[in-house]
Formats: sequence, structure tokens, C-alpha cells
Amino acid sequence: MNIIVIGAGYVGLVTGTCFAELGNQVTCIEVNEPKVNNLKKGILPIYEPNLLPMVTSNVEAGRLHFVTSFAAVAVDPDVIFIAVGTPSGEDGAANIAYVEEAARHIGDFIREDCVVVDKSTVPVGMADQVKALIQQALDKRQLSLTFDVVSNPEFLREGAAIEDFMCPDRVIVGLQSDRAKQIMLNLYTPILRSPERIYFMNVKDAEMTKYAANAMLATRISFMNEMSVLCERMGVDIENVRMGIGSDSRIGHAFLYPGCGYGGSCFPKDVRALMNMAESHGVDAMILKAVEKRNQIQKTVLPQKLATIFGEDLSGVLVGVWGLAFKPGTDDMREASSLVLIEEVIRRGGRVQAYDPEAMGVARQLLPEKWFKSGQLVFAANQYDALQDVDVLALVTEWKSFCYPDLTRMKGVMRRHLILDGRNQYNPAHMREAGFDYAGIGR
Ligand SMILES: NC(=O)c1ccc[n+]([C@@H]2O[C@H](COP(=O)([O-])OP(=O)(O)OC[C@H]3O[C@@H](n4cnc5c(N)ncnc54)[C@H](O)[C@@H]3O)[C@@H](O)[C@H]2O)c1
Repeated sequence: MNIIVIGAGYVGLVTGTCFAELGNQVTCIEVNEPKVNNLKKGILPIYEPNLLPMVTSNVEAGRLHFVTSFAAVAVDPDVIFIAVGTPSGEDGAANIAYVEEAARHIGDFIREDCVVVDKSTVPVGMADQVKALIQQALDKRQLSLTFDVVSNPEFLREGAAIEDFMCPDRVIVGLQSDRAKQIMLNLYTPILRSPERIYFMNVKDAEMTKYAANAMLATRISFMNEMSVLCERMGVDIENVRMGIGSDSRIGHAFLYPGCGYGGSCFPKDVRALMNMAESHGVDAMILKAVEKRNQIQKTVLPQKLATIFGEDLSGVLVGVWGLAFKPGTDDMREASSLVLIEEVIRRGGRVQAYDPEAMGVARQLLPEKWFKSGQLVFAANQYDALQDVDVLALVTEWKSFCYPDLTRMKGVMRRHLILDGRNQYNPAHMREAGFDYAGIGR
């Protein structure tokens, strides 16, 4: 099939590359020209395991193309995916301006019947707006075409995006016509391990499914974070509780991990967008508000633990930070817990020495240059250099290379042997036996 993907960010690039890998002809339209130039040279805008070789081989095979506008698209598409960003607006609602712009461009461009697929996470009812915008543009061109607007939300996890895309738990498709259904089935059949894994439903139901899924996962995390605070007060180890409840088949283990807060490009903004939708429909979203509030507080847990140990004034305290990305396997820094920790340490007069295997380049762009110039913030060449002379290690992102570190080497370089484990990666007893003071979350 001929496919256009609008937006070559996380979702667009993975979607386009995977569909090209399956033998389709894919053109990614991306407005950011430097991004497109880099992609053509094989330089990716994101770090995602196994993505680079797949992009390179599909570009070389002539199945994957990157352009900056519709004007450069060579063929009429069967399917157009919208995969542009929908960041939080000031009121928490999803900013739909990029989706609207993409819809207008589609209406200005298409010459043949096609299916427009919304892969961006969009407010319920957005497909109708996309349809109206495309129709308006077609009317201006006095062109009569048949096109469907389908909702096909994406559920990939950053760090495992290719695997998730190629072997999805399920594919959600909201649509109205048999024609669109047949095209979506043709598109997804090669990656569906069984036909039951594709769920067809109404467009609005599909749009809502995405928000409800992310809100559910965020709720599980915030619930566990709340339990961890309670466990800590009562001398209970949340990790034993986690295993105890996760082994209940009605509950399961996924997304039950307490920690120093969730971040990323999806959970925080999608919970806020759903809260906003609830509010505009007169529903008091009590659970969502609590999920969001608990997460904000949870991001301050590590700074609070530092204050308990060193006092509010962190002058003269050097904090080693392991992990900057919001989760392992990505360089995505959106709403990462590390940002809150670093800002708090520096605000209270302390200094930070940090290391992340992949996210330091992105973090460097995000964090104020003055912190680097003044030496308040230093990025180290490796995880052990980040511990040179530090008073404490704060583990924020559970990259694999941090799981079994060389404890002797750590002790050799750290000024004080103290570990704040923001992701409960270590066994407290082992750490204490090895001569470290150790504090995790909820234990
Ligand atoms: N990142 C994830 O893990 C993930 C997972 C599931 C769903 N989503 C959803 O998918 C959508 C995209 O997320 P993302 O993380 O890929 O965003 P992103 O910010 O990484 O990428 C969006 C890209 O679209 C480009 N763009 C914006 N307007 C454009 C236009 N008119 N034409 C062409 N390109 C345009 C931007 O330059 C950017 O490169 C969002 O709605 C998000 O909520 C993201």
C-alpha cells in the first residue's frame, strides 16, 4: 500500500518505518527540516532500540522516504496517518492545533479517495473535526472525494516501540465504513498474531480507549506510590506487598512499581487532557485529580529525602544522579522526574553530577546553560565518574547498566556511601552488607 505518515516524531517514525518494513511504500512528512535532513543521512531524532538499522535498510530499499511537505510526495496515498504531537495546553486540554493543521494540508493535497487515520492521541470527537476540516478544503477546491477518518490510537511503549508495534497486544480501530475496515485489516493483518487482536468499534469509543488505557496505567502507578508512602510510615516493605498483590491474577504485576513519579510524553498529558474533558462535560474526575496530584508529590520524594538527611540547605552537598530519561530505553526527557530533582537540588544550593546512557544530549538542550557554566550541574562521561566525590547517589532511571553496578568501585569514588533508590532497584540488605546507607521508596 502507499502510505503517508504526517509527523516523524516518536510515533510517526516508528509507524512509518514498521509499515515500510512490511513492504509498504511509506513517505513521512515532517515539518522540521533539520530533522528531515538528518533522517535522510541516517541520523534519528530519538534514541529507540533497533530503530536505526530498520530506518536505514528501508531507506536503502527505497520503501521509506522523508520529505518536508505534501508538495514533495510522489504518489497518491491509500492511507494517511496523522501522527503529530498533541501536547498539554495551559488548561490541561490537548493542544489540537497540529492535528488541525495536518487535516487542512490533507484537504489541500489529496486527489484520490483514501483513508485518513488518526494515530495521535486526540480528544474524543476529534475525528469529526478532522473530517470537517478536510471537507472544507476539498469544497474550496471543488473536488468530490470519498474519504474516511479512522481513529487508530497507538499503544507503543518508548524503549520497546518496534516490538510493541510489530507484535501488538491489540489494535484498536474506530471507524464507520466497511471500506475503511477492509483497508485497516489489510494493513494490520501481517502483524496480527490472531484476528481477535484487532478491535473494531465506533470512532469516539476508540478515541476514548486510548485515554482510558493511559489513565488506568497512571492510576496503578499513583496507587502504588500512595501505598509506598503509607508502607514507609508503618514499617512495611512495599516490594513485598507489590509481589503479594501482583501475583493475584485479578491484579497482575504490570505497572505496579512504586517510584519517584511517572513522566514521559503520554501519561501526564493524557491524564490532564482526560480531566479537562471530564470538566467540560460536567463530570468531577476525582480519581484522575488524585492520580495527577499524587504523581506531582511523588516527583518531590527524592528531594524530600535529601532534605531529611542533609537539611533544607544543600550548600556543599554534591548529588550523583543516575538516569535522566523518564524511563530506560529512551532519550525522552518529557516531564521526567530527574528534572524536578535536579531543579530542587540546585535551588537549595546543592550541586549535581549526572549520567544517563542516552538522554544527556536531549537533557543538555532542556536544562539552563547557566547551571552548566556555574558548575552546579555536570554531566559525567560514565556512571562511575558521576559518583566522584558525591555525598549521595540518587537513582532516578532504572537503566540496565545501573542494576548490578560495581559496588567496590562505587565505594572507592563516593565521598559518602549513601544511596537513594528512586526505583527500588537494589536489595536493601545487600546494599547495607556492602557498606552503603540505603533508602528506597516505601521500604
Ligand atoms: N511517544 C509515545 O510514546 C506515544 C505513544 C502513543 C501515542 N502517542 C501520541 O502520538 C502523538 C505523537 O506523539 P510523539 O511522541 O510522536 O510526538 P513528537 O513530538 O515526538 O512528534 C511529532 C512530530 O510531528 C511533527 N509535526 C507537527 N506538525 C506537523 C505537520 N503539520 N506536518 C508534519 N509534521 C508535523 C513535529 O515536528 C514532530 O516531529 C501524540 O498525540 C502522542 O500523545 C505517543
